Amino acid sequence: MLRKCLFPVAGYGTRFLPATKSMPKEMLPVVNKPLVQYGVEEAIDAGLKQIGFVTGRGKRAIADHFDTSYELEHQISGTPKEKYLTSIRRVLDVGTFSSTRQREMRGLGHAILTGETLVGNEAFGVILSDDLCFNPDRGVMAQMVDLYRQFRCSIVAIEEVPENETDKYGVIAGDIIKDDLYTVTDMVEKPSPDKAPSNLAIIGRYILTPDIFDILRDMPPGKNNEVQITDALLVQAKRGCVMAYKFKGKRFDCGSVPGFVDATNYYYENVYEE
Ligand code: G1P
Repeated sequence: MLRKCLFPVAGYGTRFLPATKSMPKEMLPVVNKPLVQYGVEEAIDAGLKQIGFVTGRGKRAIADHFDTSYELEHQISGTPKEKYLTSIRRVLDVGTFSSTRQREMRGLGHAILTGETLVGNEAFGVILSDDLCFNPDRGVMAQMVDLYRQFRCSIVAIEEVPENETDKYGVIAGDIIKDDLYTVTDMVEKPSPDKAPSNLAIIGRYILTPDIFDILRDMPPGKNNEVQITDALLVQAKRGCVMAYKFKGKRFDCGSVPGFVDATNYYYENVYEE
């Protein structure tokens, strides 16, 4: 049913310079695993095994990471070090990996539209690997797939954020329908606290129905002169239905240095196994 997951990975990673000068920010490791691999594992665990990267210049390391390294296999097969390849081998066994280039940086909405060629006419997931989500029982994307089966409309993951941080996120207003689920009535990209319709912020997990592509095609640039997925989702919400889901688990904002350090400490203490 849902088979594909897009990873917009064309961003510059300016906040991590100089580390990201010649290395994609998505390859920064949280302990021993690159950020993007956590995201890809979450997608695969949710059954989304066809992974599509929307890449940019200087991002070849991502494509190489999701490919066999013959030298490495040759060097460490049959040695005690082989265990270090377990997680990436599993991902490579199960997933398929394609990529397309976003030639101009015109926003997340534009990145997703660029991915249309990898997705076609079916519903799909989107993971922003900067948002590292942890739930040892059921990953956030798997939780959202469960909801999609029921509702068959676009879904965004949300989290309550401090009121002075609404300008970092897309923010929703909605009617609560049960427990942690809302139907979206309004959506604003990065509003200042006085203009925010709530403190329910969108985090980097989406399930999108394919009509989003036609909406994005006609979408003028919005906040920061970029084509915003938030604006396209508001059109969908007004035409039909978009759900917002307060996910279960812990999220780290690995797009910021403090969030990245928090994630590193947490994963070292609670997740990492040598
Ligand atoms: C993007 C989206 C924003 C969302 C955020 C989640 O912003 O535009 O709506 O809340 O991701 O991480 P970015 O962080 O790329 O500026």
